[in-house]
Amino acid sequence: MKNRRLLTLAIETSCDETAAAVLRGGRTALSNVISSQIDVHRAFGGVVPEIASRCHLERINAVVDRALADAGIGFGDVDLIGVTQGPGLVGALLIGLATAKAYALALGKPIVGVHHIKAHICAAYIEHASLEPPFLALVVSGGHTSLVRAIGRNAYEVLGRTRDDAAGEAFDKVARALGLPYPGGPAIDRAARGGDPGAVAFKRALLGKAGLEFSFSGVKTGVLNHLNAERQAGRSVNVANIAASFRQSVVDVLVAKTMLAAETHGETRVVMAGGVAANSLLRASMDEACRKRGLRLYVPSPALCTDNAVMVGAAAHFKYEEEGADGLDLDAFPNSEL
Ligand code: KG4
Ligand code: ZN
Repeated sequence: MKNRRLLTLAIETSCDETAAAVLRGGRTALSNVISSQIDVHRAFGGVVPEIASRCHLERINAVVDRALADAGIGFGDVDLIGVTQGPGLVGALLIGLATAKAYALALGKPIVGVHHIKAHICAAYIEHASLEPPFLALVVSGGHTSLVRAIGRNAYEVLGRTRDDAAGEAFDKVARALGLPYPGGPAIDRAARGGDPGAVAFKRALLGKAGLEFSFSGVKTGVLNHLNAERQAGRSVNVANIAASFRQSVVDVLVAKTMLAAETHGETRVVMAGGVAANSLLRASMDEACRKRGLRLYVPSPALCTDNAVMVGAAAHFKYEEEGADGLDLDAFPNSEL
């Protein structure tokens, strides 16, 4: 069922970005439209699920229209509809699913539901035409932190995951404690620029241990305890130094475990995926570590690391090639491991 010219309309509404995209052949993005709700949720310090659902509902049709217009096609040209099925906020997912089903039914076109984390990994195929499985992927998003082996374009094996918080979740919680705005990851990345990464030695959990699991709740608690101690002692908090020290401790663990996984499993290709893969220090450090060991690193540009519909279109295309279409009864799955 390989079709290099197949036009996929993809929809992503799992969290706080209303996104649609058109792809040709699963790897070429013809359009990429993202309507971000960050400004709406910032006042609350994080995503408010009910507000996210309402925003998706208000915006989704215009976002799809724009994606088709930017690609220079009409509804009649669409061959396949791809949509994020989960994991994510259930109300938010249902808006994308209902929209995608309505288009599929009205147009008489096949629909494919995709796993959001598989979609993040598939983002790497868009800008790297030579990338093919097998490869090792580090998935670092707001809800997931895992090391995954891609054994096919639609087949994955989880090698290790976090025991507690995801890396992105730790970034968001530490940012909030430092008084930085939502979303915390980019805010810490910016604040860390002028700071000393060696100022505070925060915990690097499981570093040097044999397994491929992660744990980020300890470093988060470490930052909160440090802040409390400083404030109680009446000392002013150096936000740049704490942001830089925290970022360094998370990046050290992510890079070390990825290198351990590559060595243990004999992988020579490494993919980074998910919102935290937009982090400037992680990108630079992973690049350096891979170069040293002769590994090839594939990282999407930052805009394709955070939530978007292009990655959903790629995952939908690959799934359709191997498994065919889903039924119109496809449902949201808010909590689903890879
Ligand atoms: O993949 P994503 O957009 O959504 C999920 O599927 O979760 O990831 C969002 C996460 C948030 O925790 C956000 O703070 C983090 O990615 N993030 C970053 C950066 N940009 C986004 N973390 C660190 N540095 C960044 N530059
Ligand atoms: Zn995501």
